Amino acid sequence: MEDELLSLKGQALACLGNAQDNDSLEACRVQYLGRKGLFSTVMRNLGKTSEEDRPRLGKLANEIKLALEQAFADKQNGFTASNNASKNKASQDLTLPGRAIPFGKHHPVSQVMTEICSVFERLGFTVAEGPDIELDFYNFEGLNIPAHHPARDMHDTFYISSNILLRTHTSPMQVRTMEKQPPPLRMIVPGKVYRCDSDITHTPMFHQVEGFLVDDNVSFADLKGVLSIFIAQIFSAKTAIRFRPSFFPFTEPSAEVDIACVICNGKGCRVCKQTGWLEILGAGLIDPEVFKKVGYDPEQYSGFAFGLGVERIAMLKYGITDIRLFYENDIRFLRQF
Ligand code: PHE
Repeated sequence: MEDELLSLKGQALACLGNAQDNDSLEACRVQYLGRKGLFSTVMRNLGKTSEEDRPRLGKLANEIKLALEQAFADKQNGFTASNNASKNKASQDLTLPGRAIPFGKHHPVSQVMTEICSVFERLGFTVAEGPDIELDFYNFEGLNIPAHHPARDMHDTFYISSNILLRTHTSPMQVRTMEKQPPPLRMIVPGKVYRCDSDITHTPMFHQVEGFLVDDNVSFADLKGVLSIFIAQIFSAKTAIRFRPSFFPFTEPSAEVDIACVICNGKGCRVCKQTGWLEILGAGLIDPEVFKKVGYDPEQYSGFAFGLGVERIAMLKYGITDIRLFYENDIRFLRQF
């Protein structure tokens, strides 16, 4: 019986070795290990063996049975694994287009800033930038705002030391430029400015574009002409504008420029506080006192200057009601521009 068991084991393993798929493997298993299989038939004869041989043969038969069961299970697992692998292969469609890589974009404030600059560049203005950390002299003194002048209160200045500060406007570049270059000048200065202020229409850092032009015989009409073209290009040719008398220590006369409310078309709404008008920039003819400080002869030269808030223009252009959205970096907001 021992020989019989060993030869059955050999045959079963050979059959298993030849099986090419799950079905033939299962057929083999039933033939040898099934309830009516060859192995069971041999085992039935165990009772007929002598009592001294029986424990040894029983043990051997059990070992062979376990070993065969294990061999079948291993082979079956192998089939399943390779089956899965080939299924996966079939589900990979190599002709599918690749996944798109999302592209970044320019920030809406940068986009509007570029647009503003390009309007003035087409009018012959050159672009220059100045330092964010500025001397008191350029930010105030040279612009006819001496120490203790009440106009300093409007600026909510961040001081670094008693005479170094974060610039509160881009106007210091008027003084820096005039100090170095003789007229004629035609320049715009985009950049960051800082004021200690924060609510739905103010952030402690925001952007301005300064513009100035100095030459012989520059008049308020020139300023009006340039700003009218600017507003027509940024908003629309139909956008109404008005100049309202105002005061800045470095311009005389000074004006604040309003446009007809882009939300309600001048009818009056929440955004324009029912006035129909929105203030978008400050401007004026450069004060002779500023010319004197940089050594220009105020009898010979005249000029205009203006300063506008970039976030404010972006908010009006796109109907954004909270300035802080620009600085939260929420990708769902930024993707819309
Ligand atoms: N610098 C002024 C401000 O920030 C704006 C301005 C610029 C006004 C140039 C007149 C001329 O409020």
